Amino acid sequence: MSTANGTTTVITNIASLVTNDPSLGEGSPLGLIQDAAVVIDGDRIAWTGDSREAPATDNRVDAGGRAVIPGFVDSHSHLVFAGDRTQEFNARMSGRAYSAGGIRTTVAATRAASDEELERNLTHYLAEALRQGTTTFETKSGYGLTVEDEARALRIASAHTDEVTYLGAHIVSPDFADDPTGPAEYVALVTGEMLDACAPYARWIDVFCEKGAFDGDQARAILTAGKAKGLHPRVHANQLSYGPGVQLAVELDAASADHCTHLTDADVDALASGDTVATLLPGAEFSTRAEWPDARRLLDAGATVALSTDCNPGSSFTSSVPFCIALAVRDMRMTPDEALWSATAGGARALRRTDVGRLTPGAYADLAFLDAPSHVHLAYRPGVPLVDQVWRRGVRVA
Ligand code: NIG
Ligand code: FE
Repeated sequence: MSTANGTTTVITNIASLVTNDPSLGEGSPLGLIQDAAVVIDGDRIAWTGDSREAPATDNRVDAGGRAVIPGFVDSHSHLVFAGDRTQEFNARMSGRAYSAGGIRTTVAATRAASDEELERNLTHYLAEALRQGTTTFETKSGYGLTVEDEARALRIASAHTDEVTYLGAHIVSPDFADDPTGPAEYVALVTGEMLDACAPYARWIDVFCEKGAFDGDQARAILTAGKAKGLHPRVHANQLSYGPGVQLAVELDAASADHCTHLTDADVDALASGDTVATLLPGAEFSTRAEWPDARRLLDAGATVALSTDCNPGSSFTSSVPFCIALAVRDMRMTPDEALWSATAGGARALRRTDVGRLTPGAYADLAFLDAPSHVHLAYRPGVPLVDQVWRRGVRVA
């Protein structure tokens, strides 16, 4: 087999391979192959199949009877920040409720940080995520809330991922919030000068549509302005209360409505009928002791569900997709197959990508070996570091 970069590798002796190729599965969208092999040509998957039929090459890797899965696609994180909120978490675990107001603490710390500190923090959390199997990640601004600080966050993020989201509309900036006309002035900034400065670094625009953040009309104005600048929408929707976020996301053909914790039947129907993915973030419910989103209701209605970490210092300070999978299976009534699909192919759908989240010919060779015979162990053995090797673009990186 010829290669782009001269390297062809065959991984053999895989006890169970998740391809996410639905044509291979017996009823499961995971497209499982037992006793499998994978051929990697340069940075792409060239072939998958029965280990005994694998073509011979000089580069052979023996998986030793481990499971191999697509690298996780973490389609929702907030990783450009400084400081942490340990005290807030501690207080919450002693009974205080979570509110969007805590975001201000991180805004102050992030503004005060140097570029180098933000870069160091980002690379630290990314390395943590990579070791746990995440090979594609999205990340956002939202802790700067000035033209310069938002653009700086996106510039730093864009050196590490193509999936960069402008979230100037995380909360009304504290510089505007105390004046009655402040929120309207801040929305004008977010849709004007700040958008102009941020759009060159971002693919997506997001808004926290919630009481205490932005209402439906403000969210619509922000997302529409972003679309006019070529950014594609995604929405923090229905996290803390019922509201217009999900319906707005579907109406504007957002790639994803994220959180989806408080949904009416009409919200579920809207998600089931459109192309907007429902991205569930169980780390947030875990870390805020909130009610779980009803994954079963969404899946049974026919909605596409993604699972992501929401890694951020306030509501979900975990970079671990395996942890989120375990929560989703135990507490959100997802099957282990559904949870694995949602954290790989589902995340890819939420980013409108077809080149990641699957191990099919032509897709990127982004994969994780598990120190276990099957992906089910991610939920069956919660908290155990089962991710054993991580490959990105055909190269072992962890
Ligand atoms: O997705 N919901 C809004 N944003 C984050 C929380 C940010 C924070 O508390 O710092 C979230 O949960
Ligand atoms: Fe979030």
